[in-house]
Amino acid sequence: MKDFLAISDYTSDEIKDLLDVALKLKKQYFKKGNKPIFQGKVLGMIFQKPSLRTRVSFDMAMRHCGGDALYLSPNEIGLGKRESIADVARVLSGYVQALMARVFDHEHVIELAKWSDVPVVNGLSDYNHPCQGMADALTIVEKFGMKSKGLNVSYVGDGNNVAVSLMHVSALLGWNFTLASPEGYDLNPKAVEVGEKIAKKTKSKLTFLRDPHEAVKKAHVIYTDTWTSMGQEEETAKREKVFPPYQVNAQLVSEADKDVIVMHCLPAHRNQELTDEVADGPHSVIFPQAHNRLHAQKAILARLFDVA
Ligand code: CP
Ligand code: NVA
Repeated sequence: MKDFLAISDYTSDEIKDLLDVALKLKKQYFKKGNKPIFQGKVLGMIFQKPSLRTRVSFDMAMRHCGGDALYLSPNEIGLGKRESIADVARVLSGYVQALMARVFDHEHVIELAKWSDVPVVNGLSDYNHPCQGMADALTIVEKFGMKSKGLNVSYVGDGNNVAVSLMHVSALLGWNFTLASPEGYDLNPKAVEVGEKIAKKTKSKLTFLRDPHEAVKKAHVIYTDTWTSMGQEEETAKREKVFPPYQVNAQLVSEADKDVIVMHCLPAHRNQELTDEVADGPHSVIFPQAHNRLHAQKAILARLFDVA
């Protein structure tokens, strides 16, 4: 692995291997702490957007394993504005051992990786959120087991970056993925094409609907995310009119499998896409899911550094 830019860049076996490593490092962390496998390594973290989970979990992942992390805020770097992406990548490659970048335009993280001599991790772009997808898969596997082929994962809401990575990881692991979104808020067609190719190989089924009730029938996982992603703030009022039928509430959850788990990448806009009752209810796994960012990212870094 040189970079981690998209889950769909990897095979089913490589994704399963990452999950195995994450489970191993998680167990080790809670038993006696992680071994210093990242000693002498620093992760440079470039952020063009705000973050709680991605920033803190990457920082802690490095520290728990004997390494360090450096936060670079939007104001400091001015990626592509103060300095070209190619120059930023080549300069930072001489200072740090890996880069993580949260960007607006997916092309920018690809450009960083093209020019960087050190591994680049995508910490969210407008196209996808692969680190989130790995933590989501880890959470699902912990609940339903590694051999959970045929599981039904249903995403309700905006066909956004988080949905793309969830679709790709679901297809790679042989899970059926259903998405219900309002007209005009469908998944990126290019991402669907990539997903369909994977699904053909793994015999997973991808379904795209308008009706959230139909989408959650027989669901083992119901997933939702914000109606308005970072960078789309000027559309907030318009989206708040379109999305209410897609709210994940107690009624919708009651229509799924009785053991369904409810997931959200967070931050949640409580009582918009997800009610308090569901977020804090018995089906919710939103906090273990957030905590799994730490363990999934340790595995990604370990494979990139080739130390596990
Ligand atoms: N889920 C997630 O990526 O959260 P942050 O935006 O807080 O990093
Ligand atoms: N879809 C959201 C995810 C935040 C973690 C966004 O891009 O803002």
